[in-house]
Amino acid sequence: MSKASTITVLGAGYVGLTTGALLAHCGYKVYLIEPNKERLDVIKQGRSFFYEDGLDPVIKLALDSGDLVPTNSYEKSVPHSDVVFSCVGTPDNPDGSSNLNYVFGAAEEAAKHAKPGTIYVQKSTVPVGTGKKVEELFKKLNKKIDYVSNPEFLREGTAVYDTLYFDRVVVGGDNKSAVDAIIDIYIQLEKFRDHIAHIAGVPVGPRGDQYIGTSLNSAELIKVTANAFLALKISFANSIAVLADKAGADVVEVMDAVGADNRIGRAFLNAGRGYGGGCFPKDVSGLISSGLEHGVNLEIMQAAQAQNQAMPGYIVEKIQDAVGGQLSGKKVAVLGLAFKAGTSDVRKSPGVALANLLAKAGAIVASYDPQANEEAAADLHKDIKQANSIKDAIGNADVTVLATEWAEILEYSAVELAKHMKGTVLMDAVNQYNAVSATTAGLTYVGVGRI
Ligand SMILES: NC(=O)c1ccc[n+]([C@@H]2O[C@H](COP(=O)([O-])OP(=O)(O)OC[C@H]3O[C@@H](n4cnc5c(N)ncnc54)[C@H](O)[C@@H]3O)[C@@H](O)[C@H]2O)c1
Repeated sequence: MSKASTITVLGAGYVGLTTGALLAHCGYKVYLIEPNKERLDVIKQGRSFFYEDGLDPVIKLALDSGDLVPTNSYEKSVPHSDVVFSCVGTPDNPDGSSNLNYVFGAAEEAAKHAKPGTIYVQKSTVPVGTGKKVEELFKKLNKKIDYVSNPEFLREGTAVYDTLYFDRVVVGGDNKSAVDAIIDIYIQLEKFRDHIAHIAGVPVGPRGDQYIGTSLNSAELIKVTANAFLALKISFANSIAVLADKAGADVVEVMDAVGADNRIGRAFLNAGRGYGGGCFPKDVSGLISSGLEHGVNLEIMQAAQAQNQAMPGYIVEKIQDAVGGQLSGKKVAVLGLAFKAGTSDVRKSPGVALANLLAKAGAIVASYDPQANEEAAADLHKDIKQANSIKDAIGNADVTVLATEWAEILEYSAVELAKHMKGTVLMDAVNQYNAVSATTAGLTYVGVGRI
């Protein structure tokens, strides 16, 4: 096909909103379809409905120029588009498998309106084999649409930067000209990326520009395998942390030295409360489930999942030991509810799990997060008090738990903590607070796998 000029993005969540807003600065007209009215209304005002560094100015400018058009209408957007990016959610079913209702629903609706020759790009994370099924659907609907898998690797918190300065772009598909057309879009993004970085106020990155063309099935498997491997590293570090606790070693010292080996690398070897968010937990369970569907028992991932699920309970036991065995009636401040720093996302957040477990154990819990208080409200145990500041949360606390690695939390002075708390226990569930400063201020520092 000739070069794409008009693009529709389906789903204005973390992935779709970022993708759509950035592409609208690269010479494309971008329609952004979002059926959720509340989300759509916020986007139409020129901002994101979640916290993401640098995204709002990019949305605002693209709206003002008319190059980004948020809508709920397939009819008004898809027929004009050369390329459709599907960025709809793929949550987990109660049994851990991937819920593909949005994926197939969006594909069917788009197919109804697509002109012949449209390229349909799957950015959502889907189990291997899904693309072939969508291709069959298009055939059944008698639609000439080329299907391409282009899995997304952005991280919440650095979504704009990651999209502009990607490590690699994976594009899988059987039709070479469709694959090339999608690669062209990223080459176009490369031309504009420094300019967009300035608008967003994010750093200008290194020139990462690796393009990897694969088969459709491989592209789908690459995405879940990458996330599963990162989750595996975290759970591995956590299992070593539990051993370090028993054996009197320090997991940070261990992983610093282990990770200094270039073959291993230090990233994702931080022990602590485990992984959460809208991706790792469901991608791990989706991979396990997709393995079972093919008669493959991925026990290694089952072990990683079990280790992760055990971490909040393990940490609560450590807190219980630190306060002499009884949590009931103890005042505990939980600092950090977002599943990681840099986002307001609380999906499957370990901080929320910790706060809830503590409340269930009878502790009097106050929680605080720099960005996620509002999003966490519905998930928190009804007795948890949401504080407006760190100081407000820790006042008179017996225990403070650091549950998310926000700079505001990690940089909060140990002297101030000690001054406002009633007790002395500081549970560092992310293993990133300065233990020496805590001890010097008279706090009892407890980490995960730390001496
Ligand atoms: N969030 C991340 O960091 C991240 C990173 C890489 C990949 N992914 C993957 O990308 C996909 C999207 O993730 P997300 O976090 O952006 O999800 P999300 O839940 O934030 O957003 C999905 C959006 O799609 C909308 N939607 C549902 N049905 C639709 C339809 N038929 N047409 C148009 N829109 C529809 C929803 O209303 C929602 O706003 C998932 O498969 C996820 O695994 C996410």
